[in-house]
Amino acid sequence: MNYQNITLDYDNRIAVLRVNRPKKLNALNRETIQELHEALIEIQDDDEVAVVILTGTGEKAFVAGADIAEFADYSVEEGQDLAAKGQEILFNVIENFSKPVIAAINGFALGGGLELAMSAHFRTASTHAKMGLPETSLGVIPGYGGTQRLAQLVGKGKAMEMIMTAGMMNADEGYRLGLVNHVFAPEDLLEETQKLATKISKNSMVAIKAAIEAVNAGFSHDKDGYAAEIKAFGEAFGTEDFKEGTQAFLNKRKPDFPGQ
Ligand code: COA
Repeated sequence: MNYQNITLDYDNRIAVLRVNRPKKLNALNRETIQELHEALIEIQDDDEVAVVILTGTGEKAFVAGADIAEFADYSVEEGQDLAAKGQEILFNVIENFSKPVIAAINGFALGGGLELAMSAHFRTASTHAKMGLPETSLGVIPGYGGTQRLAQLVGKGKAMEMIMTAGMMNADEGYRLGLVNHVFAPEDLLEETQKLATKISKNSMVAIKAAIEAVNAGFSHDKDGYAAEIKAFGEAFGTEDFKEGTQAFLNKRKPDFPGQ
């Protein structure tokens, strides 16, 4: 498919999805959100793709936030619609995506940009990443799940401080707080993140999908994470991947998962 605001490349079983508005520091406007949604559907339907890496074009920004120019004149209703639609078609889709999504934070990840990275299953960052939720400095609050996911990732007190101060943290502090899992030199970020993705792609995609659902269930208000885990654990015994994984172990060979 032809996209105007994003690029989508495939490398082996890894899809690299980039927000591509470098002149606007990859700010997220409605069109970009829609295109990311469409690209995720494309990736979802492609059986060849195992893992998604989400990043930004250029060295300066991952995504410097929601597009301020676009929403500056919005009414209360339009503001609510912006947040609700964005959460529904993009941020929640990424969080619940059945294939692993890794955000590779290659620069500024601010506001909606950090929210986008936080909706991914985990994050890597370059040494020059700068992360924060500056919305209160604009007279608004995070609207793409930031108040919830930041508190889940770094704890309530630190999230409160970051949101209240509207400040930015560097990659080392993000690593210390568990916001990012790995920090790499800018020139190594994509390659090292691809190595992680390749390692993941060797495991059972069926099991990984079930694990994503079970972990997410524990953070959902209407699901019991332990019950979800028991159900998914049991269901794994009925999969071809489980037969292959256990037989490969018992026969001292590497598994070749059929993905079923
Ligand atoms: N929305 C819309 N445009 C944005 C943007 C955003 N969130 N972030 C950056 N841009 C645009 C700038 O307006 C500028 O466009 P212009 O060249 O047409 O004037 C261009 O991207 C480059 O940004 P600039 O501010 O000149 O770069 P800088 O290096 O001086 O500063 C930042 C970088 C990230 C500190 C600064 O751009 C910034 O504070 N951005 C907004 C961050 C924010 O509040 N995000 C949360 C939104 S809810």
